[in-house]
Amino acid sequence: MNNLSKSKDEKKLNLFWVIQRIKKGYPIQIFAVLVCIVIVAVTTLIGTTFFKALIDDYITPLLQSGQKDFSNLDKAIVRLSFVCAVGVIASYVQSTTMVKIGQGTMRGIREELFSHMQRLSVSYFDTHPYGDTMSIYTNDVDTLRQFIGVSLPNILSSIISLISVFITMLILNVPLTFLSLGMILIIMFISNKSASISMKHFVRQQTQIGEINAYIEEMMSGQKVIKVFCHEEAVEKDFLLINEKLRQSASKANSYANILMPIINQLGKFSYVIIAIAASVASVKGYMNITVGEIVTFLALVQSFTQPLSQVGQQVNAIIMASAGVSRLGNLLYAQPEDAGGDISLVNVVHKDGALEETADRSGMWAWKKGDKEYVEVKGDIKFEDVDFSYVEGHTILHDINLYAKPAQKIAFVGSTGAGKTTITNLLNRFYDIDKGNIIYDGIKIKDIKKSDLRKSLGIVLQDTHLFTGTVMDNIRYGRPSASDEECIGAARLANAHGFIERLPNSYDTVISADGGSLSQGQRQLLAIARAAVADPPVLILDEATSSIDTHTEKLVQRGMDALMSGRTTFVIAHRLSTIRNSDCIMVLEHGRIIERGSHEELLSQKGRYYKLYTGMSVID
Ligand SMILES: Nc1ncnc2c1ncn2[C@@H]1O[C@H](COP(=O)(O)OP(=O)(O)O)[C@@H](O)[C@H]1O
Ligand SMILES: [Mg+2]
Repeated sequence: MNNLSKSKDEKKLNLFWVIQRIKKGYPIQIFAVLVCIVIVAVTTLIGTTFFKALIDDYITPLLQSGQKDFSNLDKAIVRLSFVCAVGVIASYVQSTTMVKIGQGTMRGIREELFSHMQRLSVSYFDTHPYGDTMSIYTNDVDTLRQFIGVSLPNILSSIISLISVFITMLILNVPLTFLSLGMILIIMFISNKSASISMKHFVRQQTQIGEINAYIEEMMSGQKVIKVFCHEEAVEKDFLLINEKLRQSASKANSYANILMPIINQLGKFSYVIIAIAASVASVKGYMNITVGEIVTFLALVQSFTQPLSQVGQQVNAIIMASAGVSRLGNLLYAQPEDAGGDISLVNVVHKDGALEETADRSGMWAWKKGDKEYVEVKGDIKFEDVDFSYVEGHTILHDINLYAKPAQKIAFVGSTGAGKTTITNLLNRFYDIDKGNIIYDGIKIKDIKKSDLRKSLGIVLQDTHLFTGTVMDNIRYGRPSASDEECIGAARLANAHGFIERLPNSYDTVISADGGSLSQGQRQLLAIARAAVADPPVLILDEATSSIDTHTEKLVQRGMDALMSGRTTFVIAHRLSTIRNSDCIMVLEHGRIIERGSHEELLSQKGRYYKLYTGMSVID
């Protein structure tokens, strides 16, 4: 089947994929960050345990002795300040490095997405709205910024501080440590529950952001139609609906996540009080040998223990959003790419001693290269044998297509809209794969030819012309990047585009933006023909290439095109039957079947469908 839109083994991506990428891409930086995190944790711990020393070693003796000697205390405070300064520097280095890692990783992911997207089949884009795909690049990738820059270091530092604080607590007092641990497990259990609820809503939120982007994109490209039919209000109403849906899911997602923080904080305070009471009672009753300094320090440690947890809690939002974003990234990244086709490639050749010899230069002669040494000259001999095709499984569009184009012949397709003319050309260039039958090119099944080389051998003017932002010259040269200015101008003359280009403000250097909005439809078609002409391919496919050009210009273009077509196999689809009169064979298509075929004269004498179309007696169904 031709539908590659759904990946066969749809893998789900999660945040560990991101972490793996970081580990691979930034090993030194991550190591530096880890060192900084340890330094920060240790300096914080030193700061916290300083209470014990402060109270038990300095303040209590000072109070008891009555002497006012603060010199030891001064030194201790200087030492502490130094430790704090080191901590501050370490956290600065850590956060700036993380920003760099984050931005770099996002750049890498965008690159990978884009390069993967270039390899996707046409059918992927048939089934995925552009705006939604755009949203993956912008919105979903962006969810990683907060995750990598803030959440990830927070988690790492939390783990490290939890471990170090836990060990210190154990050293200080074992029973109190286990009491604290119990409280903390309760807090973690509650956070976990809340996080899993909001995860569901975050995934929905990201999907809806994609939907809203797709809608905006569509309405922007359809602006003119909206205005012509006065649909502004209706469009706005629909937008409000989608927008409201996004608001609802976003509110739900965020409120579940936001509730988490206060819960953790309050539970933290609660456990603090319980431990304080337990410690004091135990000490007063003599169950435990514990100093005031130790109690104060222990309580500070309990706070240091719940603090990392609440830090992670603050990040829950970002973490969940990032994992929703990453899972959407995966949908694009693991969408099955278009296969490269067969092994047979297209090479330039020259005749030498009666045989074909490969050459690196443009020789104007092409050959299919099979294996290492076998060459088959590209003649443009194309055969369709019993071809059936469906875009959607079970809904056959083309039935039993048989046709034979001999080299240098001009084959025309006519038939009403939706008959399947464009589809036939889509099969020849392998935008889609056939369900049944064979398409044979110079005696080779096209599925054995490398797709890119197959397409290189076909000069295609698509039914919907697309121009890129750039100069007119750039757009013509798109057909063959190595073409000189003269060759491009020559092609423009051939396509009869030279005249109007000369009248543009900057002639060939005129910049046309986004799909050539400043040119008329007909002018765009002329440029598209010039673009195909400059590629100088052995086979030409012209799909309604002159449909938007006036009859006078068309006659001129026709002359150029006839020159272009001579010596090449050409498939022409045209509405105006006058343009295809001189074809070697005309195929009349109806509902995906060839119902008549023959030369213009033969078809006229048959007095069938073509006759009706040609004489204007046709009622298009
Ligand atoms: N990408 C697509 N996905 C599904 N159906 C399609 C697609 N493109 C065209 N079709 C259907 O295939 C049929 C033939 O279309 P097409 O070949 O474009 O006709 P035309 O003869 O006007 O060029 C139509 O019924 C159309 O609805
Ligand atoms: Mg068409």
